[in-house]
Amino acid sequence: MNKLIVANLKMNKNSVEMSEYLEKIVKEEYSNDIVILPSLSNLFLSTVHQNEKVSYGVQNFFYKEEGSFTGEINLKMLEYMHVKYALIGHNERRKNFKESNATINKKVLNALENNVTPILCIGESLGQTRNNLYKAHLKRQLSLALRGVKLADLNKIIIAYEPTFAIGAENSADLLYVESNVALIKSILKAKSTKVDISPKILYGGSVSLDNYEAFLNSEFIDGLLIGRSILNADNLIKIGR
Ligand code: PGA
Repeated sequence: MNKLIVANLKMNKNSVEMSEYLEKIVKEEYSNDIVILPSLSNLFLSTVHQNEKVSYGVQNFFYKEEGSFTGEINLKMLEYMHVKYALIGHNERRKNFKESNATINKKVLNALENNVTPILCIGESLGQTRNNLYKAHLKRQLSLALRGVKLADLNKIIIAYEPTFAIGAENSADLLYVESNVALIKSILKAKSTKVDISPKILYGGSVSLDNYEAFLNSEFIDGLLIGRSILNADNLIKIGR
């Protein structure tokens, strides 16, 4: 089954570097689906570099309608930039920009209104894992982020499960640990309805590399990957996407 590979470029690459990167990527053929999340300043390149297996999205946006919000960009303004996905609730935004669960919830609802697929990031800390608080934490993050989302819309959302201790770390989280938490997330979502089959895609993210991506992609529980550092090299993304 083909899987979803989401490339989070974070705050990397100027427009020339990004153009060279995309030029390489769109030339190839892939069995997996690829989503590229460039910086907002590089998003215009999505209009130039196209491949049927490659889509684009944003790492961030503001959920308000137009108005006096200096420095912000909303999804309507990006209408012609091929934005199909929006990353929401990434730990770097929760931590460095104090994004709350309430803000994350507003972004999820706003993305759905704009027909943009939310990629909602959730994940526990090492302390929560050690103290056996991680299950309650994941449940809470999901319930706050998805407040007010219609049952029928839940399958439009992608969940990126990223234990925070595995992001930008030396090692990824353990595969069996990830699989059991992905199964937990699936069961929490399924329990929301007995009538609608709720089974959104669940990705894993956190120090995925050329050494470990195959194990995660081969897992029947995991629907794809959210990758940062490793995909800054176009050849790596090409390899993982094939
Ligand atoms: P990493 O980043 O692959 O560099 O750990 C993943 C992420 O931040 O989503």
